[in-house]
Amino acid sequence: MSHSLIHKITIPQYGDARGGLSVAEIGGALPFVVRRVYWIYGTQPGISRGFHAHRKLAQLAVCVSGSVRFRLFNGEREEDFTLTDPALGVLISPMIWHEMHDFSPDCVLMVFADAEYAEADYIRNRGEFIQTKRE
Ligand code: TYD
Repeated sequence: MSHSLIHKITIPQYGDARGGLSVAEIGGALPFVVRRVYWIYGTQPGISRGFHAHRKLAQLAVCVSGSVRFRLFNGEREEDFTLTDPALGVLISPMIWHEMHDFSPDCVLMVFADAEYAEADYIRNRGEFIQTKRE
């Protein structure tokens, strides 16, 4: 039995009768020091994104509104997971090919990253990714 590619992180909630409140902090839900945060929203119908891996970057993705389906691929196996819970994160480790599909119109996907943007860190070709994993 192989381990799941989907590494989920439960984000503590302090919601009450007034509504939700979730917290990601070092020593808690954040597994690394965050150096960059970006968010994806207003994704048009039928659009999928991602289709790349990062050489060194680690990321934590939280769907703070709506839903989105993640597809992760480690070069051998592919797994899907739909994020619907604003108190759940999915870890995107280095050298994991990732795709995002089925964005709901109200999806806001917030991503915490452990480094600043660097195009050189991307592998955007699936064949090159598989080859690099084998090296
Ligand atoms: P990209 O990561 O390529 O998104 P996707 O793979 O889902 O299409 O980012 C799209 C564009 O935005 C690309 O031109 C790079 C730019 N970008 C930044 O400049 N900084 C960032 O932190 C991110 C995530 C993207």
